[in-house]
Amino acid sequence: MRLLGIETSCDETAAAIVERDAAGRGTILSNIVRSQFSEHAPYGGVVPELAARAHVSHLDHIIARASAAAGVPLGDLDGIAATAGPGLIGGVLVGLTTAKALAAALHKPLIAVNHLEAHALTARLTHELQFPYLLLLVSGGHSQFVLVRGVGDYHRWGSTIDDALGEAFDKVAKLLDLGAPGGPEVERQAALGDSRRFAFPRPLLKEDRLDFSFSGLKTAVRLAAQQIAPLTPGDVADICASFQLAVTDIVTSRSRSALERFRAELPGIPPVLVVAGGVAANQAISNGLSTLAADSGARLVVPPIPLCTDNGAMVAWAGAERLALGDTDGFDIAAKARWPLDSADMGRHHGR
Ligand code: KG4
Ligand code: ZN
Repeated sequence: MRLLGIETSCDETAAAIVERDAAGRGTILSNIVRSQFSEHAPYGGVVPELAARAHVSHLDHIIARASAAAGVPLGDLDGIAATAGPGLIGGVLVGLTTAKALAAALHKPLIAVNHLEAHALTARLTHELQFPYLLLLVSGGHSQFVLVRGVGDYHRWGSTIDDALGEAFDKVAKLLDLGAPGGPEVERQAALGDSRRFAFPRPLLKEDRLDFSFSGLKTAVRLAAQQIAPLTPGDVADICASFQLAVTDIVTSRSRSALERFRAELPGIPPVLVVAGGVAANQAISNGLSTLAADSGARLVVPPIPLCTDNGAMVAWAGAERLALGDTDGFDIAAKARWPLDSADMGRHHGR
């Protein structure tokens, strides 16, 4: 089966066509992403109203490009999938309404995809991977551990109690006057700096839970920067390196605990840690997780970076996984700003 996937929940306008064969293997036929980076740059963050307008202006063209690049006319598709939440509601409405219109006009099934589910299932598109596995989702809006037991069968083991990890990178970048998006800028600076110069806190690390907290760390970074202002380029690099080391320690130590819980609750099942979301692009963090996986005998799966950040292929793939189970949605399905992965309607239709 071949599906179109539409992603408009934040500041990427994206469409892709993905094929899923009878054995459950996926192939990306096209994957077009248009970042709205330049529209939002003057404001230092994503402006929801501008994002929605830009999605309206560009989505039709992006879908046409995805169809042309794949060599698949829209009429030949087996289903239309779009992110229906969670995300900035204006943008989600643009993508979901477009998907409904296409599905109605072409008489194709509609699949309303949870954006977090799309991140969670991407590793099955790129790797040979069976359920269950442990997901570490670290993006601009989310930081959580999820036990993925099957399509629609998700158990959240821990989340951030304040900022998401990507958000912490973005805020640190902003307070150091680095450009946006902040994560890659902080990583670039960190490579030039001394990670031992500042001893930033590792919040919650001593507590026996799988939650994250990053806002205290961000405040510590701000105070350190204020104390030594004006900052030289060397200071900026040292702050970034010390911040990145702190978050790498936090993420690897939490992941170690999560893998221990996996072994305890799922004895006999080889532990697999899947990393998803934009922060998976960070080399220091993924190196920390590789070392952890090697030390603890777990398999680590990190999809290629362009598939870790927001894209249409992950939405098309999640739609295909749902459609393969006979799971489709009616045209009355609503866009949702909030839609936790473990909410009751995630197991909809196929009786979980
Ligand atoms: O998954 P994503 O594309 O969008 C959301 O759904 O949030 O993630 C974007 C986030 C941003 O906060 C960005 O700064 C962060 O991922 N990010 C990084 C890196 N690349 C992107 N954070 C740290 N290091 C990176 N190399
Ligand atoms: Zn995302």
